[in-house]
Amino acid sequence: MKLRRFTVVAVAAAAVAATLNVVPASAGPTTKPADQSLRAAAARHNLYIGTAVDSTALNDAADPKYRELVKSQFSSVTAENVMKWESLEPTRGTYNWAPADELIAFAKANHQLVRGHVLVWHNQLPAWLTEGVADGSISKTELREILKNHITNVVKHFKGKIWQWDVVNEAASDPWDSPSTIHYKGFWAQNLGEGYIADAFRWARAADPKALLFYNDYNLEAFGDGGPSDKVQFIYNFVKKLKADGVPIDGIGAQGHLGTQYGNYDVFQVSDMLKRFTDLGLAAAFTEVDVRSYTATVADSNELNPRLQASAYNHSVLLQACLLNPKCLSFTLWGVSDNHSWVPTWFTDPPEGLATVYDETYQPKKAYFQLKADLFLAGPPYVQPRVPVKPNKGR
Ligand code: G3I
Repeated sequence: MKLRRFTVVAVAAAAVAATLNVVPASAGPTTKPADQSLRAAAARHNLYIGTAVDSTALNDAADPKYRELVKSQFSSVTAENVMKWESLEPTRGTYNWAPADELIAFAKANHQLVRGHVLVWHNQLPAWLTEGVADGSISKTELREILKNHITNVVKHFKGKIWQWDVVNEAASDPWDSPSTIHYKGFWAQNLGEGYIADAFRWARAADPKALLFYNDYNLEAFGDGGPSDKVQFIYNFVKKLKADGVPIDGIGAQGHLGTQYGNYDVFQVSDMLKRFTDLGLAAAFTEVDVRSYTATVADSNELNPRLQASAYNHSVLLQACLLNPKCLSFTLWGVSDNHSWVPTWFTDPPEGLATVYDETYQPKKAYFQLKADLFLAGPPYVQPRVPVKPNKGR
């Protein structure tokens, strides 16, 4: 009878330990896990770790390492460009699905989830659309119909294959814009007014009832002073209103484009930001993480090392904040390696780069090892609960 009770308790304890991914403290130090990839490390937390994928690089037979890293290190992918409007519908009414379909097939073959990027954005729109609006041949009423059709066609085409959609991207202005009071900016707000945002979410939901629908933006990593120039507060207020109005929004995407020249974030500052959004009933994700640096003087190793350290630190702050919040579902890097990063072509004066976790020859950098350490060391079985120690009384 006693033995039976013990067995029941032991079995129950083992079941709880298995659920919690805990090994008993007596198991002692663990050895390195066999699968050392980022995706294996993130899987311990049910976290998806992703990358933006440059389809040209993915299909470049002369560059096999790129494809190998996307497969082996990441559990989620985002199309860096091939799901944007200018790529999907370069000519009015003629869709070019092939590059995006290929990426989705690649993801399926490699057991990866797909973030859809992006349905509504003011950049990378096809010329037929922007020019038609500019010359008056597309009216405002027709523009709204065009947007509805685009969202409906695209979401239906990929229905069931997209985990999270960036439905609306970068709708809010920045404090350095004029006026500095944060406002709805860009092509869509100018032509349709702010109502396009709620419409876009409703149209996306009608086309796919199961995809998670995100609002995505940059410089969202920490709340400011809560005043009229605080972009995070502005976005918080509007997504709160979207929720209150019954708009089908599921998540907030913080892009996470950081720069070492701007100093270091603090993990609690970032986790506070996430918590305020997830307390609204939203999921969260880091969607485009990279940490760039000035590169003009980095031939000097005394200059390079502090920048690599600062990059690793800031990558880590975002990841740790995500790990602290159970509703932070995914952590996506914006590019695999420095030879396929958007940064050097966009920031040229002064030149910037070094933004990703692999260098130009695919050597992992400090940031890569730091992300992996964060993922492996966060919680059991590698970090055990502290064991109380009693004073040694002697004999
Ligand atoms: O495909 C053309 C090619 O045919 C042409 O020869 C070449 C010459 O300029 O340009 C190619 O297009 C470029 C495209 O990337 C694909 O490489 C565009 O010029 C270039 O502007 C475009 O840049 C992309 C940028 O968005 C555009 O806004 C970057 O790759 C992409 O990383 C970047 O991603 C954005 C996110 O979508 C939203 N958040 C910010 C993030 C960084 O800007």
